[in-house]
Amino acid sequence: MTRPWETWRAAVARHQPDYQDSVELNEVVSTLQHRPPLVFAGEVDHLRKELGRAGRHESFVLIGGDCAETFAESTANQLRLKIQTLLQMAVVLTYGSSMPVVKIGRIAGQYAKPRSSPFESRGEEVLPSYLGDAVNSFEFTAESRLHDPKRLLDTYNASAASLNLIRAFAKGGYADLRRVHEWNRGFAANPVFARYEQLAQEIHRAVRFMEAAGADFDSLRQVDFYSSHEALLLEYESALTRIDSRTGLPYDTSGHFLWIGERTRDADGAHVELLSQVRNPIGVKLGPTSTAEDIKRLTDRLNPQGEEGRLTFMARMGAEEIGSALPPLLEATKSDGRPVTWISDPMHGNTISTANGFKTRDFDTIMSEVRSFFDIHDAVGTVPAGLHVELTGADVTEVIGGSEGLDDLALEQRYESLVDPRLNHQQSLEIAFQVAEMAARANEGQTSQASSPDAFAVDDWHLFDTSSQAGRLL
Ligand code: TRP
Ligand code: MN
Repeated sequence: MTRPWETWRAAVARHQPDYQDSVELNEVVSTLQHRPPLVFAGEVDHLRKELGRAGRHESFVLIGGDCAETFAESTANQLRLKIQTLLQMAVVLTYGSSMPVVKIGRIAGQYAKPRSSPFESRGEEVLPSYLGDAVNSFEFTAESRLHDPKRLLDTYNASAASLNLIRAFAKGGYADLRRVHEWNRGFAANPVFARYEQLAQEIHRAVRFMEAAGADFDSLRQVDFYSSHEALLLEYESALTRIDSRTGLPYDTSGHFLWIGERTRDADGAHVELLSQVRNPIGVKLGPTSTAEDIKRLTDRLNPQGEEGRLTFMARMGAEEIGSALPPLLEATKSDGRPVTWISDPMHGNTISTANGFKTRDFDTIMSEVRSFFDIHDAVGTVPAGLHVELTGADVTEVIGGSEGLDDLALEQRYESLVDPRLNHQQSLEIAFQVAEMAARANEGQTSQASSPDAFAVDDWHLFDTSSQAGRLL
């Protein structure tokens, strides 16, 4: 039976696995179709509204996590480290920018990767590339590199188990602002660590003050934490799409926020077709060759009605190219008029290779792209609404630079990523401090203030006749 959102089957689908056994694939798809949803329509709707607010400059979006998750590393400890780092970044950004932060993990589903080449050769041997744990295994043997549909079930299971833990962290006390100090525990002492400690102390005092004053906010105790991944594998995403009983509309229940990669964002392609059918907020990665025409066509396909929060563009231009590549795209969205949320991905356009054979990124280049992103928005009069980074909570050495001054040689110490190099804990916090300052400056320039409720007019205090002392309150 084809379901309404399976129109993608008629379109060109790039970067899909090449499964040998279609009977086995169909069994897997049918099993997935009967599994419970991983996320719920109400949560997805809520996130869409939050992204809409960010697009109006009333909040700031933080998306972070692994380039590619692996089943082996989806352990309680690794997940906790990532959540811990993201919470710390969120605190820094919230405090520094005075804006609410929308927290999204690149997590609980980020198991598939499009690769530049379908094959990898080592010496004489040529095998299919590693496409992420959702498709095959990293080990360089013919058997491991076979595209195995059963891995889609493992992907569902790993995502479900991860989300379960993340929900417990988000709602069960771990994310309580009163624990702001504890999130820094277990990390090496260094200048960024110390700067965080100081901020944590200020927050701690503020929280204690509010408690003493009798304020008791539930919002201090928990966070809304959302999941996201690249919606690459069409069979998987399609199998997890469900009709919501309340609205009668389809939602892709594999994650809250789904994005389309630079390599699959063809407006006529299968990825855009599938995601045009679901209610989730959708992201599209835009590289330096994107045109104003792409913006128009993607908006027509993905957000024809101009709904706030529905469409996010994630600019991954490269520090060198952003100055020429981004302005015409911002102008295009501005003149189009339909709302869009703009996020900076300063990682993917800045990958380099070192002499000693590592794929890396330079911290300063990353920062330079983010800074340009803010400056260009300022010049065009559009809203810099968020940041998307690849990070891990551990003390890996994959990105060079930062205040630790990691160099090419340091990459040999602890390089663990199977795909792209990630910011380590310290570099992640460092970015958060710097971006908080940029966001604060951008926020000052704006007229619409972040979520301040209608203030009591000053004049309302003059209820009493000030000529007579008798009526004075104080
Ligand atoms: N609930 C608020 C928020 O999400 C405050 C908050 C609680 C918070 N725990 C947090 C903020 C951890 C950042 C990090 O913004
Ligand atoms: Mn990546």
